[in-house]
Parts: sequence; C-alpha cells; structure tokens
Amino acid sequence: MNIKIKIVGVAGAGTMGHGIAAVLLRSGCEAILCDSAAKALDAAQEKVSARLAREVEKGKWTAEEKSVALGKLRTTTKLDDLASADLVIEAVTENFEIKAQAFRALDGCCRAQTIFATNTSAISITRLAAVTRRAPQFVGLHFFNPVPVMSLVEVVAGLETSAATVSLAENFARQLGKTPVRVNDFPGFVSNRILMPMINEAIYAVMDGVAEPAAVDSVMKLGMNHPMGPLELADFIGLDVCLDIMRVLYEGFHDSRYRPCPLLEKMVAAGRLGRKSGRGFYNYSEAKSRPGAQ
Ligand SMILES: NC(=O)c1ccc[n+]([C@@H]2O[C@H](COP(=O)([O-])OP(=O)(O)OC[C@H]3O[C@@H](n4cnc5c(N)ncnc54)[C@H](O)[C@@H]3O)[C@@H](O)[C@H]2O)c1
Repeated sequence: MNIKIKIVGVAGAGTMGHGIAAVLLRSGCEAILCDSAAKALDAAQEKVSARLAREVEKGKWTAEEKSVALGKLRTTTKLDDLASADLVIEAVTENFEIKAQAFRALDGCCRAQTIFATNTSAISITRLAAVTRRAPQFVGLHFFNPVPVMSLVEVVAGLETSAATVSLAENFARQLGKTPVRVNDFPGFVSNRILMPMINEAIYAVMDGVAEPAAVDSVMKLGMNHPMGPLELADFIGLDVCLDIMRVLYEGFHDSRYRPCPLLEKMVAAGRLGRKSGRGFYNYSEAKSRPGAQ
C-alpha cells in the first residue's frame, strides 16, 4: 500500500488521545485532535504542551523545535474536520455504540484510502470494522498508558484486515518510536487476555480473605518482580475499565474462568473506581494508605 502518513486524526482527547497526539508531534506528524467535549480539548492541549516541554528540559529539543511541533497540532469538536487525515486513530470512550457511531461518521467524511485504527482495549476489531465500508483498511493500534512512555503497540488484525494495512500499521508504530507486536483479533487480544484475569484473580484472593491488598501486591512485586502489584495496577487503570474488559472476555469466550469477581462488581457499583475517584483498593486521599506507604 503506497500511502505516506503525514496527517493523523485522533478521535477522543482523553487519557489516551492526548498521549497519542504528543507522540505524533514528537515524531514530526501533523495531528488533528477531536473531542466532542471542548473542555477535554483544552486539558489535552495543556498536557501535550507539558509533555513536549519535558523534551526541552531533557535537552532533546530546543524551545523552537517544541513550538514548531505544537504548531502542527489542530483541535476540533467536529469529526468532519478529520477528513484530510491519512490515518485516523480512534480513542473515544470504550463502548461499542459510541465507537461505531464515530466510525460511521468518519467513514462518511474521510477519503476512501484513509486508514482507520482503533485504540480499543478489548472490543472486537472485526465487529468495529464491519460498521465501515473499509474493513480491509481497518486495524487495531493498541497503545499503552502513559503513551509517551510505554513502548508497546499491539497491532491487531481483524478478520478482514489486509496484510498491507497490518504492515503499514507496524511501520507507523516504528516511526513513532514504538515496538509493534502483531496479534489477531480475539477478546482482550494478548495483553488484556493475560493481564485482566490476573488482576481479577488478585481480587478473588482479597475477597476470599487470602490476604490484604497490600500483601497481595507485595507478593507479586517481591516474588514475581512485577513493578506494580495487580491491585495497585487495577486502581491505576480504573476498576470500571477492568470490569468492562472482564465482561468482554466473559461474553466473548462464554467461559466461566473469565467471570468478573463479585468484589470487583461491588466496588464499581459503590463508585470505588481507583485513583480517579480517590478510592479503590487503596485510599488516595490519605497519603499513608497509598500503595508503598509505610
Ligand atoms: N486508559 C487506559 O489506560 C487505556 C489503555 C489502552 C487503551 N485504552 C482505550 O483507549 C480508549 C480511550 O480511553 P481513555 O482512557 O483515553 O478514555 P477517556 O475517557 O479518558 O477519553 C475518552 C474521550 O473520548 C471523548 N469522546 C466520546 N465520544 C466521542 C465522540 N463521538 N467524538 C469525539 N470524542 C468523543 C470523551 O469526551 C473523552 O474525552 C478506550 O477505547 C480505552 O479502552 C485506554
């Protein structure tokens, strides 16, 4: 496929969208960042600028290079403004209907050769591609949080994704300084199929009274050399996101081994979502109960 990726549209300017925009600018691309919420765009612009400022602090960039890169960022609240993009990376809310609606709109306004990518954590690439008229040009580009720091990109091939699209996506990830790993479209891909059941099992261990959260995390950090314990990580990801992904695995495989832990369901129902709500397995409003505190 002979497409040169210069202009990249990013739909969704939340945690992932702003991180993806920063990485795009860092590698010299033009980025058009779209969010239906104007407030999210303001916050994203500030975060992207702060991220690029770090390149200057580290001596990797001059202040002038930073302002040239920032000049390549446009923001908009209308998906139609992504029409000139060579590639669109969708990073809107993790919900099939919201994503499908965005892709239908993008399919209507973008050029026929534009490549579509989704950053979904667990929704089927094949199913999302099917709402567009360009399933062969539709691929999963699964970045990890925080995007500027994490080197992995899972490149997910849907059933109809062409080999040319997969290899274009891999090359593009390399162009961004990332390491692509090619996987096929199954619930949770590789990353969440392995990570989420581990987190879910850690929550079962707490529910069954095997150990307190801090003890479960210590076992995994000190015994398995994990940089973060599974419950600390669950709080970082968001317990609602963990539950959504477990549900995708459970419904996708129809297998009870992916059954979401009842304690996880209860905590989400109570609004204990982890860091973002101030409380999850740890309490983030009291410094002494944070993970790692004595
Ligand atoms: N947060 C993570 O750690 C992580 C990691 C990997 C992948 N993901 C995936 O990335 C995607 C985004 O996640 P996030 O954590 O950045 O979510 P987020 O809630 O921080 O951001 C989503 C943004 O999408 C916007 N949005 C919703 N509908 C829209 C529409 N129709 N058009 C334009 N903007 C719209 C919202 O206003 C919001 O700002 C999800 O699919 C998620 O599963 C998240």
